[in-house]
Amino acid sequence: MQTKVLTRCFPLKTITAPQTALPANSQRIMHWLAEAQQRPVQFTDTQTEAMSRLLPLLLCGEQSAQLVFNTEIQRLATEQHSLRACLQAVEADEHRHDIALQHVALSLSSRPEFTQVQRKAKRFYAHLGRVDSYSEHFVRIAILDTCVTHIMQAFEHCDLGDEHRFSQLCGLIKKDEAKHVYVSRKHAIALGATLNQFSHQHEYVVGDLMTLLQTQGDAFESMGVCLDRLNQKLEAKWR
Ligand SMILES: [Fe+2]
Ligand SMILES: [Fe+2]
Repeated sequence: MQTKVLTRCFPLKTITAPQTALPANSQRIMHWLAEAQQRPVQFTDTQTEAMSRLLPLLLCGEQSAQLVFNTEIQRLATEQHSLRACLQAVEADEHRHDIALQHVALSLSSRPEFTQVQRKAKRFYAHLGRVDSYSEHFVRIAILDTCVTHIMQAFEHCDLGDEHRFSQLCGLIKKDEAKHVYVSRKHAIALGATLNQFSHQHEYVVGDLMTLLQTQGDAFESMGVCLDRLNQKLEAKWR
């Protein structure tokens, strides 16, 4: 069982979703977690070095997303049930991603670079939340979720190989994130977002995210994740 607790980037709120049957992909993540409790995910020394710089970037994003969705669900407490249920499902997904990535991070978090990168990531995500309107916030979240989908896909096919359990986890998270893009985009539009807002914010979010990722460029490279290719893919989106 997991006993050590990692320092969080953002506080954990009580999950708002009622206990219902889990979708297939969520069940797969729970299964992944149950296996990981028995058989910890392992890395070579070089991979450990790289992952201790990369995992805080991913983990902080999951924790930030949980908080964003939790806050929005509270704000919309009197709104229609179906909208809140959609947002609650995303919040619950992010929570599962957080727990699974924390599990991977446990063996890496005592390294000093883990905390250093965590601080950088926290600044990026906090900055992302400084917006003038709720619609702008969800435009940014939709764009960020698109980016996370591509990042997870890159890790799914990184040098660890398809059989590595971290690659497999990233493949599962990727599927959820693609769903989140749809929910966040739809919610942003319902809040009044325009297509112009998407293309304007796209430049800002992708630019800032790439600046953050490039601070760990050598770690991405050593895992076989090409940031230039990622940037090209992201620049082509929302155009
Ligand atoms: Fe996530
Ligand atoms: Fe997400």
